[in-house]
Amino acid sequence: MAFRNVTTSDRGAVRTLTVNRPDKLNALNRETIGELTLAFRQAAQDDAVRVVVLAGAGDKAFVAGADISEMTAWSPTRAQAASRAGQELMLTIERLGKPVLAKIQGYALGGGMELAMACHLRVASDRAKFGQPEIGLGLIPGFGGTQRLTRLAGRGAALELCLLGHQIDAARAERLGVVTRVVPADELDATVDGMADQLAAAAPLALKGILDAVIEGAECAIDQGLAFETQGFAIAFSTDDMREGTGAFLERRKPSFKGS
Ligand code: CAA
Repeated sequence: MAFRNVTTSDRGAVRTLTVNRPDKLNALNRETIGELTLAFRQAAQDDAVRVVVLAGAGDKAFVAGADISEMTAWSPTRAQAASRAGQELMLTIERLGKPVLAKIQGYALGGGMELAMACHLRVASDRAKFGQPEIGLGLIPGFGGTQRLTRLAGRGAALELCLLGHQIDAARAERLGVVTRVVPADELDATVDGMADQLAAAAPLALKGILDAVIEGAECAIDQGLAFETQGFAIAFSTDDMREGTGAFLERRKPSFKGS
């Protein structure tokens, strides 16, 4: 299906979804949120896709937030629905069962930072800027920022960024654990491609086991989290890929994982 605000491209098993509203710094309007949710669901269902890269079009922004021009006429009820739709997108990404990598070349603000934080890995250019500026609009983050920033960076950093609303650079975001890796701007594409290729070549069911155990386990008591881990560990032993990976190690060759 063709989208208006999201472009899709495949390179082997790597699907790239690009938010494509560069004139509006890729701000997330309602239509874009709907399209992204659908595009991620399609990627989840497509066995040929093993990794998703999420990017923003143009040089300036990954995503500069929810679309402020849509918000001015919202009632509290409409705002509630919009918040839930945004949160649903973020949960769809977080629970995709396949690794999602955010490629961040510029502003990741408000809903854009929330979108990045829902991804499993974040690679940023050294020119990228992060922030939760909603307080300056008389708002609070509505797409999960208060929760994911706290989980990623701790309560102190979440309160600092949300209460003061200032931007931070990529180096600080990396120190806070919000960004996985920062690279010079001209190395961003190659770094993301390399990371995506590594993930695309890995055993998909083992990747899923890790995602499930880490993400679901972070939300529950350790006993239950350990049960998730045991479940994923046992499932791995039912796969050809586990036999291939261990066999290749013992035979001193590179494994070739098939996804079964
Ligand atoms: N919503 C709608 N339009 C946006 C936008 C947003 N979040 N961010 C940028 N744009 C639009 C601008 O209105 C402008 O459009 P026009 O050319 O038609 O006027 C275009 O994108 C370019 O932006 P600027 O001219 O402002 O570019 P700049 O380089 O001067 O500034 C910026 C860049 C600092 C990122 C600035 O655009 C900015 O502050 N944007 C808003 C950031 C923000 O507050 N985000 C949070 C939104 S609320 C939210 O996300 C809530 C939530 O949690 C769900």
